[in-house]
Amino acid sequence: MQNKIKDSRILVTGGAGFIGSYVIEELIPLQPKKIIIIDNLVRGGLANMKNFINNPIVEFHHGDIRDLELLENGIAGTDYVFHMAALRINSCAANPREGFEVMLKSPFEVATLCVKHKVKKVIYSSSASVYGLAQHFPTPETDNPYNNQTFYGAAKMWGEQLFRSFKFMYGLDYVALRYFNAYGPRMDTDGKYTEVMIKWLDCIRDGKNPVIFGDGSTTMDFVYVRDIAKSNIAALQADVTDEAFNIGNCEETSLKELLEVLLKVNHSSLRPEFREGNSINPVSRRLADISKAKELLKFIPTISLDQGMKELSAWYFEKNKITVTE
Ligand SMILES: NC(=O)c1ccc[n+]([C@@H]2O[C@H](COP(=O)([O-])OP(=O)(O)OC[C@H]3O[C@@H](n4cnc5c(N)ncnc54)[C@H](O)[C@@H]3O)[C@@H](O)[C@H]2O)c1
Repeated sequence: MQNKIKDSRILVTGGAGFIGSYVIEELIPLQPKKIIIIDNLVRGGLANMKNFINNPIVEFHHGDIRDLELLENGIAGTDYVFHMAALRINSCAANPREGFEVMLKSPFEVATLCVKHKVKKVIYSSSASVYGLAQHFPTPETDNPYNNQTFYGAAKMWGEQLFRSFKFMYGLDYVALRYFNAYGPRMDTDGKYTEVMIKWLDCIRDGKNPVIFGDGSTTMDFVYVRDIAKSNIAALQADVTDEAFNIGNCEETSLKELLEVLLKVNHSSLRPEFREGNSINPVSRRLADISKAKELLKFIPTISLDQGMKELSAWYFEKNKITVTE
């Protein structure tokens, strides 16, 4: 397959973030001419970019995608855009007005500027949240989004439909990737909306029983961050446009099972403590059907949950220089 990335100029919004930083690491060996990053560091951070921030082809702009001048400077002359900057699901629920500006208005500005500057293709980070509680398991891309109850899911659906309409109106090529539950080194560990597995790693560190809110039966499809990054590269390189793809691991794991894996890979004999549930995300089940991504993007997830949780734990404990209490 032709390497479309070679000698191209690429913009990554949210490139200092968890997934964005891995996308940039996958891009660099493919020899782009320039990678421009716009990130306001509300999440993510300089530490995520330490492997490439000093690379002369990388240009980091500490700024907001709502700054139209900055955005236009980033898009003008660019061949490809990865639009990844976004707020988290809880953050959107806590502040829907900001959610509107970042998640709905900004993608509109991105799409408009991409048309104006003749960008060749946009890879849009969507989410499995568009389904809400899906109709089928495994969930194909054809399931409808009417069960979604979150602002975040609504915004991601808007993003997909926005790019679709721009393809129809102006011929702007795009691919939307619906990631399921991303995890791996560099996930947010100390923000307000830290994921449960990091809280459990803290419990393992402190020798305290980890808490499961609810009965632990809620399932997710955990997909390793580097696999997600590879799906982004595949979406750009493939001769595919105007499509949305599920990106998951095709394994349904309950929170209880997830905790068992974390305890096992850390050789911990702690036991879960169950408390009454309280979550912004009303979805009780997730499992991706990734046949479409396998067929059209040749996307195959490579990291098992055990392996991924080992890597996450090693990174987290090394980052905090921690020895685990058994
Ligand atoms: N992590 C997941 O499980 C998951 C699942 C589905 C979809 N996604 C989507 O994937 C993309 C990347 O997610 P992530 O997990 O890396 O999140 P992240 O929060 O680590 O990265 C997003 C980045 O965007 C930046 N950002 C936010 N608002 C900005 C603004 N106004 N201007 C400039 N930068 C801004 C943040 O500082 C952050 O570095 C997002 O679009 C997210 O919605 C993530």
